[in-house]
Amino acid sequence: MIVVTGATGNVGRALVATLAAAGEQVTAVSRQAAQVPDGVRHHRADLDDPASLRPALDGAAALFLLVAGGDPHAILKEAAGVGRIVLLSSQGAGTRPEVYRHPVQYEEAVRESGADFTILRPGGFASNSFAWAESIRTTRTAAAPFGDVGLPAIDPADIAEVAAAVLREPGHAGRTYELSGPAPVTPRERAAAIGAALGEPVRFVEQTREEARAQLLQVMPEPVVEGTLAILGTPTAAEQAVSPDVERVLGRAPRAFADWAARNVAAFR
Ligand SMILES: NC(=O)c1ccc[n+]([C@@H]2O[C@H](COP(=O)([O-])OP(=O)(O)OC[C@H]3O[C@@H](n4cnc5c(N)ncnc54)[C@H](OP(=O)(O)O)[C@@H]3O)[C@@H](O)[C@H]2O)c1
Repeated sequence: MIVVTGATGNVGRALVATLAAAGEQVTAVSRQAAQVPDGVRHHRADLDDPASLRPALDGAAALFLLVAGGDPHAILKEAAGVGRIVLLSSQGAGTRPEVYRHPVQYEEAVRESGADFTILRPGGFASNSFAWAESIRTTRTAAAPFGDVGLPAIDPADIAEVAAAVLREPGHAGRTYELSGPAPVTPRERAAAIGAALGEPVRFVEQTREEARAQLLQVMPEPVVEGTLAILGTPTAAEQAVSPDVERVLGRAPRAFADWAARNVAAFR
């Protein structure tokens, strides 16, 4: 049985569906009650309360673990006996470890757990563009800072496919995979791709750094806001690089942003 935390999120929902379609027994974990595919068990648990995971982990062969909850060592103590752990970490754990301390702590705990582990380090998700859903629906505009700085956004469906492969197949133990899309895409190009999927132009509005900072502070702590703005505005070469790892694991190139936009266009209508 495979336990998937974050099971109702952009990555987790696709991962649960992929594993269930492949005939795996799956337990989907989230804090809120949720609809899951037929045959999948849902378990409510909070990673901030590691003991709440215990009933889900009983007899589990593998765990897909999200970075959420304050004490990764306590979570992994509950997962003692689970043979394989796949951690959804973050690119920032490698490129800006002083800022992305939470994923770094999770990586350390997973490495020390004694399980066969694989670490996934995605960069920014294509699904971050859902933040534009309301403004595109209502005014056909999309606002972001650093409109002409490109980053290779990754489709969460590709992260889910990589995770499913790594959870099901041998040969990935001890590996860290950097996950990116196939090419850098700028915020201006992302807005245009959503417009193309809609069949109507979307106007891109460039925010100042300060406007973006104020918006991000509503959803992230200050050090992470500064780290995020640095990645968006002055990315390092590693943050802009296209990684070969999706293709290495799946045997095909990662999906383009335009593909994500076409599959998710309903959110922007
Ligand atoms: N977005 C990016 O650009 C990016 C980049 C690198 C890494 N990441 C990592 O990827 C992760 C997954 O992203 P996503 O877009 O799939 O997430 P998402 O759509 O925001 O969904 C988060 C999922 O985790 C569950 N969850 C949240 N907190 C939890 C907790 N304390 N205990 C148990 N379940 C919890 C949520 O369900 P409930 O609310 O019902 O619990 C939901 O199922 C992020 O959390 C982040 O760590 C994201």
